[in-house]
Amino acid sequence: MFSKLSARGIATRLSCLAQKTAPKEAAGTSSGSHLSEAVFAREQKYGAHNYHPLPVALAKGEGVYVWDVEGKRYFDYLSAYSAVNQGHCHPKIVKALTEQASKLALTSRAFYSDVLGEYEEFVTKFFGFDKVLPMNTGVEGGETACKLARKWGYEQKKIPKNQAKIIFARNNFWGRTLSAVSASNDPSSYEGFGPFMPGFELIDYDNTTALEEALRDPNVCAFMVEPIQGEAGVVVPSDGYLKKVRELCSKYNVLWIADEVQTGLARTGRMLAVNYEDVQPDILILGKALSGGMYPVSAVLANDQVMLCIKPGEHGSTYGGNPLGCRVAMAALEVLQEEKLAENAYKMGDLLRSELGQLPKDVVSVVRGKGLLNAIVINQKYDAWNVCLRLKENGLLAKPTHGDIIRFAPPLVINEAQMLESIDIIKKTILSM
Ligand SMILES: Cc1ncc(COP(=O)(O)O)c(C=O)c1O
Repeated sequence: MFSKLSARGIATRLSCLAQKTAPKEAAGTSSGSHLSEAVFAREQKYGAHNYHPLPVALAKGEGVYVWDVEGKRYFDYLSAYSAVNQGHCHPKIVKALTEQASKLALTSRAFYSDVLGEYEEFVTKFFGFDKVLPMNTGVEGGETACKLARKWGYEQKKIPKNQAKIIFARNNFWGRTLSAVSASNDPSSYEGFGPFMPGFELIDYDNTTALEEALRDPNVCAFMVEPIQGEAGVVVPSDGYLKKVRELCSKYNVLWIADEVQTGLARTGRMLAVNYEDVQPDILILGKALSGGMYPVSAVLANDQVMLCIKPGEHGSTYGGNPLGCRVAMAALEVLQEEKLAENAYKMGDLLRSELGQLPKDVVSVVRGKGLLNAIVINQKYDAWNVCLRLKENGLLAKPTHGDIIRFAPPLVINEAQMLESIDIIKKTILSM
């Protein structure tokens, strides 16, 4: 619990700042909201304006809960975009982090460390691939997968120099680098950032006819796709889609890259979302919950025929594979297994969808998702942003996407009582709109 004492401690630390930076219109509000206003104002003044956060200033997290600077507790229904699957500040992951941090944090890959190999063996056996290439953020995982696929395309598929193509699904999201935005059809991602990466093509998601058409081009080296499109609003493809993707990629000698940065690691009710259809991609990208939200750790997994196309000096990262990240990732994966979080996500997800499915259809037209990666589509007249503000007032944090969609993705450690309490908040809030 976030004790009154620690809330007061934070209040003391922030009171000075509040006096200095709180906007004029905050005067006269309670001292509590004054503290939050001060946090908003400082970020606004000194930080780039590349995000539009919900107005809540968080100071502590534990399990499924977060607390703001005034000590108010919330259910976290975003889980840092599915990075905190294991729950906030999981003790086992904190222990792994702190123990390794005081021993050896970073060596760079100029030298061996006594942790990297252990992690590589652990993670490759865990997911059934020959090799892993460790990176830090999800988008670096995507970049790595694209480089790997192009290299394989030239070396193994014999695509003529600089002609390799990668196919993506429309409405994909895999980050904010120039390559990632080059693969995007969302103007707010790409507009104003050209020129774009050549050799990227888009087809409709969940359309295997379009996929087969695209794969016939002999210069295609890869198809990169999310098993469920997270940022697009938790768009679940038809049953059998992933099996067909596997089949077509094999038929046309094209690598299938599964971006499981958001769907992976027990989030959808299986360790990987591709496990639902019992298929294995050629390249698997993991990130986010690979560290349980403790530290940026991402990974690209593949078998030797693909992974060994990249030679020393052709790819890397100063922090990728550092001892601290490796220890954290092993602990984070163990937590998923030991606490049976995929099974819990599956059960709790069913409960969530069946309860939310009872809301009036003229208010919530769609409830969709798998496991604890879910979204509702609400009637346009209610405005998802305003619903999220009201949810916040009622003690639950969620973020809208695309104006009428709200994603519901709590940490996977949520128990039934917490699930029912949070569902109650959602129902009451939506019915009160
Ligand atoms: C499917 C998917 N891939 C990649 C990324 C990028 O991850 P990161 O923000 O860690 O770079 C995201 C981020 O939301 C994502 O949802």
